[in-house]
Amino acid sequence: MNQIDRSRLKTLMEREQKRFAAERPKSAALFERARKSLLSGVPMNWMAKWAGAFPPFVREARGAEFFDVDGHRYIDLCLGDTGAMTGHSPSATVSAIEQQMRRGITLMLPSEDAIIVGEELQQRFGLPFWQFALTATDANRFAIRLARHITQRPKILVFNWCYHGTVDESFITLKDGVEQARRGNIGPPVDPTVTTRVIEFNDLGALEAALRSEEIGCVLAEPAMTNVGIVLPDPGYHQALREITRNHGTLLIVDETHTICAGPGGYTRAENLEPDFLVFGKPIAGGVPGAAYGFTTEVAQCIADRMNLEDCDTGGIGGTLAGNALSLAAMRATLQKVLTKDAFDRMIPMAERWTEGVAKAISDFSLPWNVTRLGCRAEYLFSPQRPKNGAQAHEAMDFELERFMHLYAMNRGILLTPFHNMALMSPMTAKEDIDQHTKAFREAAKELTTA
Ligand SMILES: Cc1ncc(COP(=O)(O)O)c(C=O)c1O
Repeated sequence: MNQIDRSRLKTLMEREQKRFAAERPKSAALFERARKSLLSGVPMNWMAKWAGAFPPFVREARGAEFFDVDGHRYIDLCLGDTGAMTGHSPSATVSAIEQQMRRGITLMLPSEDAIIVGEELQQRFGLPFWQFALTATDANRFAIRLARHITQRPKILVFNWCYHGTVDESFITLKDGVEQARRGNIGPPVDPTVTTRVIEFNDLGALEAALRSEEIGCVLAEPAMTNVGIVLPDPGYHQALREITRNHGTLLIVDETHTICAGPGGYTRAENLEPDFLVFGKPIAGGVPGAAYGFTTEVAQCIADRMNLEDCDTGGIGGTLAGNALSLAAMRATLQKVLTKDAFDRMIPMAERWTEGVAKAISDFSLPWNVTRLGCRAEYLFSPQRPKNGAQAHEAMDFELERFMHLYAMNRGILLTPFHNMALMSPMTAKEDIDQHTKAFREAAKELTTA
């Protein structure tokens, strides 16, 4: 297999960096201006992570593409890291937003849309009761609070190298088998080892051992890990996870925020999972902030039994704008008209095509890499074998190489997510877009492997 020559990689990276900057004078000028009012010149800390010396500033996005201020067109395979999996500004969602904007944006009162969305979510995911939040992070936080409240247990359990948003309890990793705060954890309110247990995904022995103490209120899990490359569950893993959690009275929260890529009812419906809670955010309202969490009748009953009407606005589950009329109108249109079964029937074959193109290039250029797909999401990783857990996936990450691949793609009109090597398909992504990525990926592979 071809190992990557680091000095060649460095030379190629310098060439790509020069090209990126030279072709984007307007973005460069805006970045210089932005540095005078925005920390690191970006509105959100992680936007500093884009692979060029500055991010391209966007002029306009529509469907599966966007244009920067210098006039470059990009095929968007990042899609707002799933927030825009619907394609940018899908027309059904935009019409619903336009209408709702003139009829009131936020009221602290329900609209009929809330019921229609609740009914739609019931049908998709099979869980009977629903509540809303503004972000998937909040939906996860609220589900965790409810699980602790119901079980009266202090801790939660997550998987090594998971990501569920900025949920304090989840910033914990395993290093040489020892639980410790995740690298880069900023100002934690408490040491996460106090609130959380962390084990490897696909390790049933570790799960059984951790839950035996009966101090764990809930397991928070993506059904397949998607935030450290893609890590698929072993056959039978979910059945065992459900059985073990039930045996120990631990509730199971399945976070479908990314794994919605598996189909209209996420991985849960595709594989008949039976979670106690389910969380879905990001694309649920076509990019308008919104998220939902659902739960079983038993959970709903426990919540109702413990509800205190006088204090229910200050119990730690809240958000003045949560469940607002605008996001519910956007959710209704997005669920009923955009993220439909027909859309998935178009998106999934595009991801298959992307994966085939990448796999063939990996094989043709004998690269020690692999590629994995889940529904309409796919990702390559810098190791010859597919990882079985977060540690193996994290071990395969290569920041230098990753940045090169991302910059190389950007210079050829393709945007990958800035975190690892994910490509996501929208309902508007076309075969030609995929083939453009395959061509660029093959060129990069060739340049990396031939002197
Ligand atoms: C699986 C998963 N859950 C939750 C979140 C949090 O979403 P948000 O940042 O929109 O709150 C993320 C964000 O990447 C995620 O990947």
